[in-house]
Amino acid sequence: MEGRLRDKVVVITGGAGGIGSAACRIFCEAGARVAMVDQNDAAIQEAITETRKHVPDADLKSFAADLGIEAEADRVVGEINAAFGTIDGLVNNAGIRRYEALADAPWQTWDAITRINLLSFVSMSRAVLPIMRKKRRGSIVNVSSTYALYGRKGMGAYDATKAAVLSFTRTLAYEEAEHGIRVNAICPGFTRTPFHIKRLGQKAVDDLVPPCALRRWAAPSELAYPLLWLVSDEASYVTSATFMIDGGLPA
Ligand SMILES: NC(=O)c1ccc[n+]([C@@H]2O[C@H](COP(=O)([O-])OP(=O)(O)OC[C@H]3O[C@@H](n4cnc5c(N)ncnc54)[C@H](O)[C@@H]3O)[C@@H](O)[C@H]2O)c1
Repeated sequence: MEGRLRDKVVVITGGAGGIGSAACRIFCEAGARVAMVDQNDAAIQEAITETRKHVPDADLKSFAADLGIEAEADRVVGEINAAFGTIDGLVNNAGIRRYEALADAPWQTWDAITRINLLSFVSMSRAVLPIMRKKRRGSIVNVSSTYALYGRKGMGAYDATKAAVLSFTRTLAYEEAEHGIRVNAICPGFTRTPFHIKRLGQKAVDDLVPPCALRRWAAPSELAYPLLWLVSDEASYVTSATFMIDGGLPA
């Protein structure tokens, strides 16, 4: 297949979600061989059908896994490696939200959100490293959030996990550079995904003007293209970087 990711095997966690499924489609269009990992079976089927509508000959396989469980990362990466023969890129994108003030957030919130938003990034990265180290190349991209850097009320546990992802990204980039592995992060801002439309309703999403310079929501594809670039060899001198893809949110 032709394209900017020609023949690269890329794993996308949360691949059935809004940003994840846009990335699956755009990566397939760019010639990648894509492993979509998600826990939501119905969403997986929908995302696969949608991708095949756009890219009928996509080399796309889905892998169901609950990445909140440590052992699932090794299992699923083993299955992906067996199916595709290698792994060139990993996009850690699976995420959940909790809407509670810090004063009210119970331990269970912190436990659940840390497992997915941070620890799944740890376990998936650890699982792919031996494969990438052997090839002496690879690219890991972690999906954080603009609110890893900026303050707000009401999602403190979420924001803390996203801030931790940035620190994890930098250290991993330094530790793995000698093995030819690049590690970067993107920080999305307000992105118009089905999750938010379901949560707030279409009208509320249409009416909400995000407080950013561009004064509009991002389409999921506007996050997928930066991910594509970071996974590709075009970004071969980029590591340990954090990219704000938030339409210019003020500090
Ligand atoms: N949409 C936004 O406005 C926005 C803004 C900033 C950051 N982000 C981040 O971008 C990423 C994707 O966001 P989205 O809007 O596409 O969300 P989404 O809810 O549509 O997708 C998240 C996906 O992760 C999967 N997932 C959740 N828990 C899992 C688990 N235990 N195991 C495996 N998969 C699991 C879900 O099934 C879902 O498909 C998330 O990390 C989110 O925090 C999104």
